[in-house]
Amino acid sequence: MNILVTGGTGYIGSHTCVELIKAGHDVVIVDNLCNSKIEVLDYIKEITGYTCKFYECDILDREGLQKVFTENKIDSVIHFAGLKAVGESCAKPLMYYRNNISGTVILCEVMAEFGVKSIVFSSSATVYGIPKEVPLKEDFPLSTTNPYGSTKLMIEGILKDLYNADNEWDITVLRYFNPIGAHESGLIGEDPNGIPNNLMPYITKVASKQLPCLGVFGNDYPTPDGTGIRDYIHVVDLADGHVKAIDHMDGYQVFNLGTGVGYSVLDLVNAFIKVNGVDVPYEIKDRRPGDIAENFADATRAKEVLGWTAKYGVEDMCRSSWNFTVKALERKSK
Ligand code: NAD
Ligand code: UD1
Repeated sequence: MNILVTGGTGYIGSHTCVELIKAGHDVVIVDNLCNSKIEVLDYIKEITGYTCKFYECDILDREGLQKVFTENKIDSVIHFAGLKAVGESCAKPLMYYRNNISGTVILCEVMAEFGVKSIVFSSSATVYGIPKEVPLKEDFPLSTTNPYGSTKLMIEGILKDLYNADNEWDITVLRYFNPIGAHESGLIGEDPNGIPNNLMPYITKVASKQLPCLGVFGNDYPTPDGTGIRDYIHVVDLADGHVKAIDHMDGYQVFNLGTGVGYSVLDLVNAFIKVNGVDVPYEIKDRRPGDIAENFADATRAKEVLGWTAKYGVEDMCRSSWNFTVKALERKSK
């Protein structure tokens, strides 16, 4: 199939392009490069031997998208393009609503105009808000605690309304848990600018001595070691989930993509230190406002319907994150 991947040069998008190509699909990428680099296209080529067709285009640019659909016969869209930093979304909510929500509406309008009614959307476990119980199931109540999460929840609602109005659409919503790790080549991975917000990018910056010390946000949660528990999932497993989703488009569907296993902050830090033989100095800090004690997925539905389960463990995630960091630093110093 010919798949349009919005946000395809980004972290999850680039890994998904690789898995789509490996599965025999053709890939067209649309990205405005606001949070990714053009070199990613060369790395995808180096890994797969395949050259993705690329449009530097904002999904808010209707004419730009129309050109993409005019020049390519698209069968299905995987829609990653969006802004994703929780703190920034609190400071600049309108930017998030405009980019994520208006962008998705324009994308869907152009898709409908060209008769392409098949879309996979990147949602997040953040739509479960402050959960009453774990593991989280797809039919649990939804709520959000920040504008970023609200954009995800609102887009889910928009897509559901779209399906209700026109059953010809096939819409799959994927709720990701905490993606970490990188492709084994070390060519693509997560490389945020500045000081990272998320745990694994912060660990790799400390391990590579670009930052002095990791702050562990709270050790007084009701968890075995007191630190927050999350469901970390290898980005390559996540990418594979998209390939499976594309193979099983069928009306409106929602799936959790997680491993179903929770690890605490200290579990992850200790696994990273052990697997990579590097030091990660840390100190306990106050809880981060808005954080929850524990979340992990019930991924049964994805297993039963998509035939998907996560294959990689936390050691693989730590090893590949570090491999990417080391190789990315080598590339930068050349
Ligand atoms: P990313 O920032 O690496 O990738 C997003 C890509 O979208 C970037 O390449 C960026 O340049 C592009 N983009 C943003 N706005 C655009 C626009 N208006 N037009 C065109 N391109 C645009 O992020 P990621 O981690 O790969 O996340 C991909 C998707 O998955 C996002 O929608 C994100 O909200 C969602 N998600 C991510 C996580 C996570 O932890 N990484 C968790 C849950 C959901
Ligand atoms: C966060 C977002 C979520 C988003 C996801 C991916 C919040 C409240 N949630 O999830 O909406 O989908 O990122 O972008 O921001 N931690 C530390 N020290 C750090 C960083 C994190 O101890 O420097 C801890 C956190 O308290 C948490 C765990 O590590 O317990 C994971 O944090 P993080 O990687 O930021 O992901 P989430 O908070 O789960």
